[in-house]
Amino acid sequence: MSELKEKSFDMSVFGFDGTGVQVQGFERDESLPIPTLKEEYIFHKDTLRDVINFIDCAFDEGLLLKGPTGCGKTSVIQQVLSRLNYPTQLFSCGGSTEFMDLVGQWTLVKGETVWMDGCLTIAMRDGHSLILDEVDLVAPEQLANLNAILDGDNLVISQLNGKVIKPHKNFRIFATANNANSDSSGLYAGTQPLNIAFMDRFRTLKVDYAAKEVEVDILGKVASAIPPIIRENMVELANKVRTVFKGESDTDEVEMSVTFSTRTLVRWAIQTQRCQRADCAISYALDRALLNRCSDQSEVEAINAWAIALFGDEFKPESMK
Ligand SMILES: Nc1ncnc2c1ncn2[C@@H]1O[C@H](COP(=O)(O)OP(=O)(O)OP(=O)(O)O)[C@@H](O)[C@H]1O
Ligand SMILES: [Mg+2]
Repeated sequence: MSELKEKSFDMSVFGFDGTGVQVQGFERDESLPIPTLKEEYIFHKDTLRDVINFIDCAFDEGLLLKGPTGCGKTSVIQQVLSRLNYPTQLFSCGGSTEFMDLVGQWTLVKGETVWMDGCLTIAMRDGHSLILDEVDLVAPEQLANLNAILDGDNLVISQLNGKVIKPHKNFRIFATANNANSDSSGLYAGTQPLNIAFMDRFRTLKVDYAAKEVEVDILGKVASAIPPIIRENMVELANKVRTVFKGESDTDEVEMSVTFSTRTLVRWAIQTQRCQRADCAISYALDRALLNRCSDQSEVEAINAWAIALFGDEFKPESMK
């Protein structure tokens, strides 16, 4: 495989002008798996700096992003890599993921048994980045097989008579997790604390929901017809639900089984803009984006009451019509 041509980018590709900072990426090669670019993505300066620093210089380690659901962990990695034209293998982990799923497997093709490289083998050999998405769903003993790779060692494939794959200089490992340590909410079903020796091999970033004004801008990008004041109130409601979900509200008794991710906010805004024929589009869309997921009616009533307080009588919940 021919080497990719390197190319420098200035920070304007990430929406920051006049910084003078150059970031190393590659010339675009359409034949390679480059993450799809999302124009509406807004970068947080600190997280962006950390991700770029890691790409630029990783010393036998991975980069782990941990934080609540839908706050932008997977997408920030993908959006940085996309703008740098960095070939990327994304692996969505699950409870039944085994190390060999990453390495490769023998498969029957037209009656013949052939070896198919897995994403780890491809990424190590060809110099791609590998994203292990939701890594805390995988059994710790399976992840332990990655320890040597994270230390910078070769991959030895015993199924191929001990074939050795040397790590390419551009090979990088990213991982995301909701619950790297322990899940105090008990709501991230299926996750388990990561083994501390595995975690020790990662530079770690804590990611949280973006600041209010950033989320208001994100909503402006995906649903520009919604006036800024309404978008502000939408983010305000999301932050209220997040606070109560985390048990950090002094005044509210209700326990939340759901939280309000940026993903949910984006869905709410897009559906509000699309469903203008509904009696009350903003309430109709909120039901579908979040409320229909609540496990208890008291949560629905509490969120609707906070929405009325924010949006006024214009907000008419289904149950009150
Ligand atoms: N900074 C941002 N700019 C624009 N959109 C964003 C941003 N952060 C999050 N989003 C939106 O939120 C969605 C969810 O983000 P993402 O999938 O990265 O979250 P996550 O933290 O990986 O969530 P999970 O833990 O559930 O996998 C994205 O698809 C995007 O629509
Ligand atoms: Mg994710």
